[in-house]
Amino acid sequence: MTDHILVEHQGEAERRIQVIRFNRPDKKNAITRAMYAAMAAAIAEGEADPTVRVHVLLGTPGAFTSGNDLQDFMAVAMGAAAGTEVWDFMQALATTAKPVISGVDGIAVGIGATIQLHCDLTFATPATRFHTPFVDLGLVPEFGSSLMVPLAIGHQRAFAMLAAGVPISAGDACAAGLIYQVVEADMLEAAVLAAAEGLAAKPPEALAIARRLIKGDPEERLARIAEETKLFASRLKSAEAMQAFQAFMTRKK
Ligand code: COA
Repeated sequence: MTDHILVEHQGEAERRIQVIRFNRPDKKNAITRAMYAAMAAAIAEGEADPTVRVHVLLGTPGAFTSGNDLQDFMAVAMGAAAGTEVWDFMQALATTAKPVISGVDGIAVGIGATIQLHCDLTFATPATRFHTPFVDLGLVPEFGSSLMVPLAIGHQRAFAMLAAGVPISAGDACAAGLIYQVVEADMLEAAVLAAAEGLAAKPPEALAIARRLIKGDPEERLARIAEETKLFASRLKSAEAMQAFQAFMTRKK
């Protein structure tokens, strides 16, 4: 159990929206193993509950999430068992039958950026920057991004984002087709919930079939996620990664 992930339900009785919210603002919503576990469980419960029609992911003002908790990464680099929580979360999010909408304001680093690839509609504010500094951390792209981003935006922009670690603004991400819409911060949650209510009111079977057709065969994505995860796990134990984690822990603010 963790109170760093809040789960609540909104909307009409048989057309509920399940809202999963990062709630660790003092750490910019950095995701711990317990948080991944809570999110994986919430997604599984939402999928199993016929009254839930849509999943929603939200952060806090100024931060969707700063990605995996670097203390947790450091612990693995130093020999602790990695656990399966992040894997369980990725599997759950990558295979939902129900639509997923997210609302992003500000910081969206690492998995905070790559989560969006598995959402159906992402709304982000003008202040949002999607940043995937995997290589700078001695790591490699994850969560299907090495497959999905080049397909969406071509090799060069994918390389800039995922290998060179160039942050991408919400406006550019939207123009490139990586996210759905840019909305002002004070309208973010209203826009997300209005979209979720709209989807919750649609015939759920038809919506699920349409979504499956649009997303295509999941096998290739899941195979890439498994391959990336294996490489990521070995990179976590590399000297390059250890150096990067230490640099973050000892940085001067
Ligand atoms: N893991 C662990 N702690 C994190 C974190 C992370 N991914 N991101 C932020 N934090 C913590 C900071 O250590 C700090 O804690 P402290 O107040 O106890 O010192 C607190 O959150 C606030 O972060 P801070 O760096 O002061 O905020 P900022 O607005 O100056 O910068 C970021 C925000 C996200 C740009 C910066 O924190 C950062 O680069 N974080 C690491 C992101 C990352 O590499 N994630 C992994 C991707 S694979």
